[in-house]
Amino acid sequence: MKIIRVKDYDELSRVAADIMIEAVKENPEITLGLATGGSPVQMYKNLVEDHKENQTSYKGVKSYNLDEYIGLPQTHEQTYYTFMHKNLFDHIDIDEKNVHLPDGSVEDVKAEADRYEAMLKDTVIDLQLLGIGTNGHIGFNEPGSSFEGLTDVVSLTPETIEANARYFEGNEDLVPTEAISMGVGSIMNAKKVLLIASGANKAEAIKWMVEGEISEELPASALRNHDDVIVVVDEDAASLLTK
Ligand code: GLP
Repeated sequence: MKIIRVKDYDELSRVAADIMIEAVKENPEITLGLATGGSPVQMYKNLVEDHKENQTSYKGVKSYNLDEYIGLPQTHEQTYYTFMHKNLFDHIDIDEKNVHLPDGSVEDVKAEADRYEAMLKDTVIDLQLLGIGTNGHIGFNEPGSSFEGLTDVVSLTPETIEANARYFEGNEDLVPTEAISMGVGSIMNAKKVLLIASGANKAEAIKWMVEGEISEELPASALRNHDDVIVVVDEDAASLLTK
């Protein structure tokens, strides 16, 4: 696990964007695993800016997103489908047919999770971007998720519902209680992982992930068993690290 410490969210977003851009330039047909949440928003802005200024092309790039809420129509403003289009896909030259997200609006969500996992089995994610939940979740794999887990229907913990209520008018009752998420096992199949974390509310999860016990109680700690992980953390998120 390689830790890159930066000053703040701005620098984190620049450093992470540079890693992504370099990877795309090196392999224009790269398969990316993408994430949502507040953490990558500025990084995606930087990718869009770079695409406009330097014409970095995503024409041959394929993407697979980590997760999606269950129960919202796909075009609802808080789906990860909408997030990805608004923050990235609508502003770069990626081919819509190369873009993949689980669809949480279908009736048979279990079949959808299986369909998504079957697609992942047929592909190799070259670079997987991750954020981290305050409780150490990755994707929507909450504490207790199996390290071998594959894409599945999952329940959100009260802590995650509370953390995500800010996107739903601050109202926890509006936050979906379930999602389809790539499993920790699916995530671990990626060739390389880039995890970004910013802010003091991530400090405990980062400390555990980097220095604590490897345990299913902190899903992100599984990444210590992966041999190519880059973690970019700002000062606040790194504030509890002792080394
Ligand atoms: C969300 C997402 C995760 C994300 C995490 C942190 O619930 N499912 O993929 O990494 O929580 O979100 P944020 O970056 O907004 O803190």
